[in-house]
Amino acid sequence: VVFDRVADVRAHLDAARAAGRRVGLVPTMGSLHEGHLSLVRRAAAECDTVALTVFVNPLQFGPGDDLDSYPRHLDADIEHAAGSGAAVVFAPSVAEMYPEPSGTTIEVGALADVYEGASRPGHFAGVATVVAKLFHAAGPCRAYFGEKDWQQVLVVRRMVDDLFFPVEVVTCPTVREHDGLACSSRNVRLTPDERRAARSLFEALSGAAALVDAGQHDPEAIRRHLTGIITREPLVALDYAAVVRAHDLAPLTEAKTGEARLIVAARIGTTRLIDNLALTTAAPGTP
Ligand code: PAF
Repeated sequence: VVFDRVADVRAHLDAARAAGRRVGLVPTMGSLHEGHLSLVRRAAAECDTVALTVFVNPLQFGPGDDLDSYPRHLDADIEHAAGSGAAVVFAPSVAEMYPEPSGTTIEVGALADVYEGASRPGHFAGVATVVAKLFHAAGPCRAYFGEKDWQQVLVVRRMVDDLFFPVEVVTCPTVREHDGLACSSRNVRLTPDERRAARSLFEALSGAAALVDAGQHDPEAIRRHLTGIITREPLVALDYAAVVRAHDLAPLTEAKTGEARLIVAARIGTTRLIDNLALTTAAPGTP
C-alpha cells in the first residue's frame, strides 16, 4: 500500500503496532539499488511490517547540488520495494513534508560540521530534519540505514540519542558492485569512462586496509596511500581522504583495527561519490 500523507501512514503503522506488529522503517530518496533492497530485506527479516520511504529531500541539497537531476523512479521503486518485503511505501510530496510556513530544523552539533558537512554546508541539518520528521510520521520502529553513508549514520544516531526518539537504528553493510564500487543511486549518471575511474575509490580503501593489515598504523602514511591511488585517476577530483575514529570521526594518532575507519569523497565529472571502510582483520568489504 502506498501513502503520500503523513496522517495516513501514521494511522496505518499505529494500527500495525496496536496489533502487536514490529515496524521496520527504511528511509530512502528512491531510485532503489541493491544497497537499499538489502536494507528492506533485513528489515523484513527482523520486523513484521516494513515501510519504505521515498522522498528526495530538498533541505539536504545545497545550491550547487544535484537536486533537480537527482534520479527519480517511483513506479519502479514501489515494485522493487514490494518484491523485497516492504508492505508499505510512503512517498510524500515536498508540500506534504514541508507545509508552508515551515522553519524548524535540527542541528546535530560538531559531528555535522566536518567532512561531508564541511563540503556540503547545511547538508546534515537537512538530513536530521527530514529523518526526524519521517521518524515522527512512522512512530516507534527499527530504522535501517546503510553504512555507505557512515557520517549520516553517526548523525542519525546522535539525534536519536539526544532527542530520545523511540527508534532503534540498525546499520547494514555497504553493498558493492562487481568491482567494489559502492552501490549508489548516483552511479547511473557516470559515463563509461567515469564508471571505470570510480573503481579507484574502493581500490584506495582496500589497498589502504591491506597496508594496515601489513602493520602500517600511521594515519598520515595511510592517508597518503589513499590519496595516491585516487589522485592517479585523471577523471577523479579528490575531496577528502581520511583515517578517523569510527564512532565520532575524530582524528587518530594511531590507526588501530576495530577503532579506525577510512573515509573518502571525490567528484567524478558532475557526480559526487563517497565511500568508507572499517579496518577489520577480515577481507576488505566483508560485512
Ligand atoms: O541516505 C539517504 O538516502 C537520505 O539521506 C535519507 C536518510 C533518506 C534522508 O533524506
